Amino acid sequence: VDLQKYNTLAIPASAAHFADIHTLEDLLEALAWNKERQLPLLVLGGGSNIVLGEHFPGLVLRIRLPGIEVVAETDEHVFVRLGAGENWHRVVCHCLDFHYWGLENLSLIPGTVGAAPMQNIGAYGVELQEVFAELQAVEIASGVVVTFDRDACRFGYRDSVFKNRLRDRYIITSVTLRLYQQPRINLSYPALRDALGEGVETPTPHQISAAVCAIRSQKLPDPEKLPNVGSFFKNPVVSADTFARLQDAYPGIVGFVIDPSQVKLAAGWLIQAAGWRGVERDGVAVHDRQALVVTNPGGKPGGDILNFAADIAMSVRQKFNLELEMEPRVYP
Ligand code: EPU
Repeated sequence: VDLQKYNTLAIPASAAHFADIHTLEDLLEALAWNKERQLPLLVLGGGSNIVLGEHFPGLVLRIRLPGIEVVAETDEHVFVRLGAGENWHRVVCHCLDFHYWGLENLSLIPGTVGAAPMQNIGAYGVELQEVFAELQAVEIASGVVVTFDRDACRFGYRDSVFKNRLRDRYIITSVTLRLYQQPRINLSYPALRDALGEGVETPTPHQISAAVCAIRSQKLPDPEKLPNVGSFFKNPVVSADTFARLQDAYPGIVGFVIDPSQVKLAAGWLIQAAGWRGVERDGVAVHDRQALVVTNPGGKPGGDILNFAADIAMSVRQKFNLELEMEPRVYP
């Protein structure tokens, strides 16, 4: 099976086996099939956060489980259960239409609902964990459906239990969000305030969503036109002391204070300062409008992309003595 159209970096890759999963029965059947064979599994959502190798020797499960359904309401909240296969931005638009508030800042993030909790997607001042109620997942080894509440997911910056202790143990089948009945405006992200402009003092959720879409489309390439996985690296978190020292040496360095002892550095700034913004080499490039994004205009294999990324990380290490951690998951 050809996987090039199933990954947004357009990496040419193949897989030994492939199944589209539309129902829980499909999933249990596929897991039972694989129990006898014990092949490696690759769970695919929108393919917007993976770097594939040339050939995956196991079974690829493309999660297409549908559903958008209100499951409970209170005066303050509305609980919406979403199938893991739903497109994230489609869900954001649906919730805006129905006046279920809270997802505006997360507009236009590529990928599916099921992938969202894996890395606690976040943008423009909001993280998924803030509107997360619970999820259901199937344990791969047993086929048992388990519910995880917010604490059980151990969310962090671009992080959850599913990337750590429970990596490759569960397949997320649905996510329930706790949204708001009344608009909840978050303008903490400076770029978002700037985009809304001086005139807009109390923006509506629709205006926030439109502004986020405008910023994103301006900075981030559309994977349909220029293959990419969004941010290729995480923003490194350093101590306040380290940040102060870096500021002495590089007055323009960009960092967001997380708490009194920790600062999150803009990796895009570091990569740009190391001279990589807009650089293209053998069909792989750093995006010219956002240096955190690696693009694959040449449709090159995963190995080429990883080599390119390693060179970027080396430059940043040499210049700033900082380690960049990759954001997408790598399948060798
Ligand atoms: N910057 C540069 N040069 C660049 C890119 C950025 O100097 O080439 C500076 C900007 O001037 C700005 C700062 O870095 O002051 C932050 O840039 P931006 O607002 O674009 O956000 P980011 O920190 O680069 C993160 C997320 C994005 C998310 C935005 C908005 C990570 C790894 N990335 O990027 O997420 O959309 O904030 O919240 O945390 C993604 O995960 O795929 C993604 C796009």
